[in-house]
Amino acid sequence: MTAETRTHTPPLGHKALTPLYDLAIAALTRESVWRRAFVLAIAPKAGEKVVDIGSGTGSLAIAVHNASPKTTYIGVDPDEDAVERARAKVKRPGAAAKFEIGYFSSDADYLKPAPDKIISSLVLHQVPLAEKQRIVEAIYKSLKPGGSVHIADYGLQKGLLRFLFRITVQALDGVKDTQPSADGIILELLDEAGFSNVEEAMRIPTVTGTISLYRACKLF
Ligand SMILES: C[S@@+](CC[C@H](N)C(=O)[O-])C[C@H]1O[C@@H](n2cnc3c(N)ncnc32)[C@H](O)[C@@H]1O
Repeated sequence: MTAETRTHTPPLGHKALTPLYDLAIAALTRESVWRRAFVLAIAPKAGEKVVDIGSGTGSLAIAVHNASPKTTYIGVDPDEDAVERARAKVKRPGAAAKFEIGYFSSDADYLKPAPDKIISSLVLHQVPLAEKQRIVEAIYKSLKPGGSVHIADYGLQKGLLRFLFRITVQALDGVKDTQPSADGIILELLDEAGFSNVEEAMRIPTVTGTISLYRACKLF
């Protein structure tokens, strides 16, 4: 599929729900817990370049900036409404970030020079399997040697958490695209793309399912 013919799922499954995105995520995902843990795992440093895939309404941009104001942050997202909201959010005093509208692609200009870290939150679960694979492969290609990828997303779901995921996230985003993530495919995709030290570093239970923090390194 080419970038021109590709379609995307908006932040909350439907375009009309985008204005409610921040409220819904705060209420339904224990956002303060997983986002804080995620930023600690990313450990952004002054002078590093970090690219965020599916940057949505800009909440991770703000969190990264607050943790490390001298990190260069670039967000990329195909959803124009979400990017507009993100740009408005970072106009707040002290916040600095750039956002690109579009799908992540390893030949994009914003990837020169190659980023130290590529991050993504709550994106892979909602894209089709082929797109999950394409994104993970493009991350590997785009990172500089020694760089790392950090993903926070709904991953392997078990027991009650699988049921909660089924009646919430899968009701909104559909089963077809989300099921491979719920079956634990992210670790496999990272391995297959060539990453080293692939791990699920943390599992955070929420009322909408388990959110996992993944990380992996590109050695060479
Ligand atoms: C649930 S939101 C997550 C937003 C943000 N990362 C966060 O943590 O709040 C998912 C985002 O992924 C974007 N998206 C959907 N399909 C995508 C794709 N194929 N590539 C990159 N981003 C995509 C959507 O536009 C949306 O903004």
